[in-house]
Amino acid sequence: MIAVTDLKKVYRQATREVRALDGVALTVPDNSVHGVIGQSGAGKSTLVRCIALLDRPTSGVVEVNGTDLTAVRSADLRRARRRLGVVFQHANLFDSRTVADNVAYPLELAGVGRAERASRAAELLGLVGLAENADAHPAQLSGGQRQRVGIARALATDPDVLLCDEPTSALDPATTGEILDLIAALKARLGLAVLVITHEMTVVKRICDSVSLLEDGRVVESGPLTEVVGAFGSRLSESLLALPPAAGADSAEGGTVEVLDVGRDGELSALTTASRHFGVDFPVVAATVERLAGTTFGRWRVQVLPPLSPDEVVGYFSANGVQAGVTATTGSVR
Ligand SMILES: Nc1ncnc2c1ncn2[C@@H]1O[C@H](COP(=O)(O)OP(=O)(O)OP(=O)(O)O)[C@@H](O)[C@H]1O
Ligand SMILES: [Mg+2]
Repeated sequence: MIAVTDLKKVYRQATREVRALDGVALTVPDNSVHGVIGQSGAGKSTLVRCIALLDRPTSGVVEVNGTDLTAVRSADLRRARRRLGVVFQHANLFDSRTVADNVAYPLELAGVGRAERASRAAELLGLVGLAENADAHPAQLSGGQRQRVGIARALATDPDVLLCDEPTSALDPATTGEILDLIAALKARLGLAVLVITHEMTVVKRICDSVSLLEDGRVVESGPLTEVVGAFGSRLSESLLALPPAAGADSAEGGTVEVLDVGRDGELSALTTASRHFGVDFPVVAATVERLAGTTFGRWRVQVLPPLSPDEVVGYFSANGVQAGVTATTGSVR
């Protein structure tokens, strides 16, 4: 388990100070994947480096399985790092070494003997589906295969946590899916606490149990995936349930209302119920439906025509436990 409390990192650049992390708190339980999403410069890589002890935080606590890593003495750093596996955007493999020797490299550093290194590398390569490629050189592998090698290497010292900084950003969509599925499978098999840094919503949708939105070094939204997506108007909800651009209907007659329909598999959508209640149709301006972590989320933007008012329709939804809001002409929720 990873527990980060009030983590701060200040970089002193030539003329100014940059607060790359400004009081970050997050928890990643064992056997779960936590996603951290944020724009370029938000502090995502700094967060990984501070947790991985590749960079010293300015203040705050980083606990892995109850041990505060920030209190570890320099002499013990190398041993502490073995509890952490790190995967980067590019696998950064040694081209001169075979795949198996790349995977065994952290064990070499740890002073593990040749025979044990070889058997552990073979086991890890089996785990990531590359048993056949043990004697190949990195240049002979595809980008996705190289990333598998990077993941196997990160697991060499049998860590409790896996930290991944943009692990799929350099890969095509199909390969991205394969690598994400591999990370999810390894999490379940090894009971890992996995932290995945990303700027891609597909990563969050596919493997994350919980997610945080990082902005200017601060966590501005955080929670279990179904909770943040189910929070009407939250930034993560709006990004994960992105609507296609409306075809100008927002400024049409009447007004528009947005509805978040949660978990209605096999039931009437809130829209149908409302339509029957008011005896009118609600033309759909934009809609999206996603199944995330076993729950179906529907986000609808519909037109409300006079004499019915948008406020009246929102009032009906609220009274029936359905989250809804009137949208301004720009399309954002008022
Ligand atoms: N070693 C450093 N020295 C000085 N400033 C740094 C250093 N590393 C990062 N920063 C600054 O800290 C801030 C956060 O950088 P970071 O690399 O963590 O962002 P990021 O969210 O990973 O961005 P990206 O999506 O582009 O990878 C930026 O303003 C950056 O300029
Ligand atoms: Mg980064």
